[in-house]
Amino acid sequence: MQIVETGPDDERFPAWCAVWSATQLADHPDEAPRPAGDHVALGRRLTAAGSAMRGTHRAAVAGGTVVGALRLLLPVRDNTSVAYLDVAVHPAHRRRGAGTALLAEGVRLAGAAGRSSLVAEVDEPAAEAAGSAFARHSGWTCDLRETRRDLLLPVDEERLSVLESEAVAASAGYEVLTWRDRTPDALLEDRALLGRRMSTDTPNGDVPVGEEDWDAARVREQETVARDRGRTVLSAGAVRDGRLVAVTDLHVPLAQPQRAHQSGTLVLPGHRGRRLGARVKIAVLRELAADLPEVRRISTYNSDANRPMVAVNEALGFRPAGALSTWSTRLPPGA
Ligand SMILES: CC(C)(COP(=O)(O)OP(=O)(O)OC[C@H]1O[C@@H](n2cnc3c(N)ncnc32)[C@H](O)[C@@H]1OP(=O)(O)O)[C@@H](O)C(=O)NCCC(=O)NCCS
Repeated sequence: MQIVETGPDDERFPAWCAVWSATQLADHPDEAPRPAGDHVALGRRLTAAGSAMRGTHRAAVAGGTVVGALRLLLPVRDNTSVAYLDVAVHPAHRRRGAGTALLAEGVRLAGAAGRSSLVAEVDEPAAEAAGSAFARHSGWTCDLRETRRDLLLPVDEERLSVLESEAVAASAGYEVLTWRDRTPDALLEDRALLGRRMSTDTPNGDVPVGEEDWDAARVREQETVARDRGRTVLSAGAVRDGRLVAVTDLHVPLAQPQRAHQSGTLVLPGHRGRRLGARVKIAVLRELAADLPEVRRISTYNSDANRPMVAVNEALGFRPAGALSTWSTRLPPGA
């Protein structure tokens, strides 16, 4: 088996993407896997000028077939001691050492890039996922466990109306705005601050990742990346005295709109306890029902420690549907 470099412009890249599709289909047979175009767009971002993330791809090749895939992500604006690693081996080629070989390559590349910690996420559709057993076997530690919750659409209108009236009553004086794909210019600086806080205020267990450096340009970069990945993003924010103090984003992959992803939701500290989290989420659900009624399901991930967010999600009707764990390892100095 060989480990070779690949990337969006390499002839092996479609096979690299197919490893991910096969992996996702094995874990979630009823869900459309991420389209190859998504991996291509992410890959291009890693070499784009001014990008907050660099990175590289490797393929494990056996007998001329791509059997495994590695993507290494290197933050450049912040968290410059960390490398994020995605590894997958095609289900038909597992337990033959491809995962171990790709992991060793990831460790080598991260060390060469001067990183001292590696972080990886493991999808856990069922209790003993291969990825967790593999990470444990490789000596990594589990730093965070999040529960995936799904909301089936359409949401019961009565439930939504009751929650909405309660939230509106609890947050008098705040205006809720919605937008799609592009944050209004007037809210851009505040949106960047919310991005920064999102990286510190969301319970993150022991994951060795610190505050992210967000500014207006990075918000715009993220919007461009979402567009290039074929996603439309519905957002809602709460405004008080002209300042954005809460936000939520919902990503819909346009080629496969049946399943949307609730991305971050954050309320700034001085404004918590007024049901603004529920209010912005409800505003986005209403936009979704009006603009993209083909969405059947929304998935979201929360640490069980994030009690306020879990309570809002449960009230809206989100129900447990699997888990996501985050693992890390430290590289010895000079690795
Ligand atoms: C995790 C994954 C990459 C492992 O790939 P692989 O090529 O099968 O891994 P290896 O053959 O190198 O396995 C090394 C060791 O990990 C452990 N392991 C791997 N898969 C396991 C499983 N399903 N159950 C129990 N232990 C497992 C074993 O100790 C194994 O050694 P052994 O086969 O001698 O018993 C693969 O199962 C996969 O793609 N899973 C989905 C994506 C994912 O979770 N990635 C993990 C990111 S850290």
